[in-house]
Amino acid sequence: MPNAVQTTPEVGLDGITEDPDWWRQAAVYQIYPRSFADSNGDGIGDLVGITSRIPHLAALGVDAVWLSPFYPSALADGGYDVDDYRDVDPKLGTLADFDAMIAALHDAGIKLVIDIVPNHSSNQHPWFKEALSAPKGSPERDRYIFRDGTGPDGAQPPSDWESMFGGPAWEPVGDGQFYLHLFAREQPDFNWENQEVRADFLATLRFWSDRGVDGFRVDVAHGLAKDLTADPLATWAELDSATTDGSHPFWDRDGVHSIYAEWRKVLNEYDPPRTAVAEAWVAPSRRARFASPDSLGQSFNFDLLSADFDAGQFRVVITEDLALSGKSGSSSTWVLSNHDVVRHATRYGLPPKDAHCTIWPGRAWLLTGGTRPALERNLGLRRARAATLLMLALPGSAYLYQGEELGLHEIADIPDEARQDPTFFRNGDVDVGRDGCRIPLPWSAGGPSFGFGTAAAHLPQPAGFGRLSVETQEGDPSSTLWMYRDALRLRRRLQSSERLRWVDSGYPDVLHFQRDGGWESVTNFQDQPIALPDGEILISSSVVTDGRLPANSTAWLVRREPETPGKHVREG
Ligand code: NOJ
Ligand code: CA
Repeated sequence: MPNAVQTTPEVGLDGITEDPDWWRQAAVYQIYPRSFADSNGDGIGDLVGITSRIPHLAALGVDAVWLSPFYPSALADGGYDVDDYRDVDPKLGTLADFDAMIAALHDAGIKLVIDIVPNHSSNQHPWFKEALSAPKGSPERDRYIFRDGTGPDGAQPPSDWESMFGGPAWEPVGDGQFYLHLFAREQPDFNWENQEVRADFLATLRFWSDRGVDGFRVDVAHGLAKDLTADPLATWAELDSATTDGSHPFWDRDGVHSIYAEWRKVLNEYDPPRTAVAEAWVAPSRRARFASPDSLGQSFNFDLLSADFDAGQFRVVITEDLALSGKSGSSSTWVLSNHDVVRHATRYGLPPKDAHCTIWPGRAWLLTGGTRPALERNLGLRRARAATLLMLALPGSAYLYQGEELGLHEIADIPDEARQDPTFFRNGDVDVGRDGCRIPLPWSAGGPSFGFGTAAAHLPQPAGFGRLSVETQEGDPSSTLWMYRDALRLRRRLQSSERLRWVDSGYPDVLHFQRDGGWESVTNFQDQPIALPDGEILISSSVVTDGRLPANSTAWLVRREPETPGKHVREG
């Protein structure tokens, strides 16, 4: 494949050297490409569709886009099964479309972070096909993790390990060997001890960095280094209770860091250095290893996403995470929603965690058949708006997921035959999977797919989705869309240092903090309104009347400021 190298601009178009720290407090908007915008009426979102919607991103005021996988893929796992790491899926466009998209994003002042998937390829990847047709013990098989079967006739898998999507993590290949797939069977795990695998990913990092990509989101970053030398392998029950000290055979082993040290050297060849953020579900105390400047540089903190809408839980998470990210020299990363979890408007409208509604896996409540707890839609959205404003007031970067700016809820009513997530096919009796947060966006009030495209979308959208569309919300200054736009504009103007100072509000379930520059954020988790301190309200997630902040709401304010920005009070 031609490597169309473009010169990386050391200096921005305006003649100003690019800020290497742009990521530290960036607002990053995640696009799940197949569900964002469809330009050619085939029902599947694509790159030209993304380019056509850049005005939306610019009006929203995000600093960067994180693009989920857009590589050639048979879509066994929404594109996280990659056939070719250095090309675009023909269903989504071409490399030329990619170049046009990145140029248009950069023209709009928006950076691009792309997903890279190093733990596994797809089973359609040429290397895996070669591995299947090569004999046991061959260099082709060594790029993946093959082991002999066990039991008297060798027909049993090497261990009882389960895939993250349910079902066995080992797949037989018919000659007495099995390969490991921690995710779907179409996602064979790479062997990261193999030098060809290492070299190929460095080539991929260069390929996209040369094309102007500003950073990478690293999928399953904590899973690459594996120790499968023990014989017999630990049982699944033993692994379940394994410690988080680096001794687990495949999660969060210290060996991953030598891989990322190599990656960092490549990323630092660019000016500004390319950024990277680890998707690493590890103990908070071990996050710093991924986030340090000689490693990836940033690591997702999913603690806020995992918390209930609860002042105490939020406070602990914020305090601990700011301390931890400070230690690594990185900035914090805040996330409330992404393509793997139940949307936060829905989570907060359900009973707390014990109703198994919080994070993937655990969507049993979405199953029909009487097990579904009542969803309080309005309460959920009200709290989601409050949590979002709180998150956007925190120091560090904030990751937003497409559609949350419209206040979208999880979509539960998807017919079985329309579902796509492998979780549903492997584990559907307990978990319906993640399709409900991946429903194509509504852009217009009407039309065959509410402006997503000119035909029906690849996942069914609910009737009435048009009421939540960008077009409808544009005309309503009290909408969630306007709250996001106002908040992001204000945040850009107000953010300065990464310090936060807690303020004692005098109420038990209220989080109140101050940022440098004299602005403050107050979140009322209580059921009753509270009195706000005297000051100018910059924005609030529900209407503040007579200086009183309603229940389940956030307001930003300045106490004394001669030229305060205009009031942006929005209806909740
Ligand atoms: C994490 C991704 O976010 C998820 O969507 C995917 O299924 C797994 N990694 C496997 O790649
Ligand atoms: Ca399309």
